[in-house]
Amino acid sequence: MASSIKISPSILSADFSKLGEEVSSLDKAGADYIHVDVMDGHFVPNITIGPEIIKKLRPFTKKTFDVHLMISPVDKYIEEFAKAGADIITFHPEATKNTSDTINLIKKQKKKVGISLKPKSSIDLIKDHLDKIDLVLIMSVEPGFGGQKFMPEVIDKLRNIKKIVSEKKLDIDLEIDGGINFQNCKLAKDAGANVLVSGSTVFKENSGDLKKNISLLRSN
Ligand code: DX5
Ligand code: ZN
Repeated sequence: MASSIKISPSILSADFSKLGEEVSSLDKAGADYIHVDVMDGHFVPNITIGPEIIKKLRPFTKKTFDVHLMISPVDKYIEEFAKAGADIITFHPEATKNTSDTINLIKKQKKKVGISLKPKSSIDLIKDHLDKIDLVLIMSVEPGFGGQKFMPEVIDKLRNIKKIVSEKKLDIDLEIDGGINFQNCKLAKDAGANVLVSGSTVFKENSGDLKKNISLLRSN
């Protein structure tokens, strides 16, 4: 059951000059997932990493690679990310012509399927697909950069999705992503999130004590 709280630190806030070591440190510090933000400079105004880097990072941990694709088009890259070692492949419905086709492409690779909604995107984009996916990623910042301010207006959307998921008795992760810190993490959990993504809080708070920051997000 997707009920215990999982922490998925975003390596977007890590030191890109030593990403392998950073992934290994997150593993040792108790991360449940490793959140990998893939950006193409087209769907979002930033460019980060691609499948080649994921392939190189794979040997550094056995933990779940929670890959957040902020790319468009997306279908033609699914297989590459799957073969590179992604475990959960999350895409934006706004980035594909047909959400069901993209879901099926990810399932064909025997990977878990996530769908992500930007802060202003409606749950109507995903309501018909909830029984076919493993994770919903609710963005609480506009996609593209770490270190942005949490947008509390997404909490109602999270509550609505939690209500639908509970009524349908679906076992899917509800992940919140963007501006999560020690002050707002309880609000997100109480609203139904069971996976918290965090980049800047995990890497920057308490002089970068990863273990302490991960456990504070889990327990606060
Ligand atoms: C933003 C990314 C987020 C971001 C989270 O587009 O999807 O995962 O890296 O970083 P913080 O926790 O610093 O907002
Ligand atoms: Zn993300």
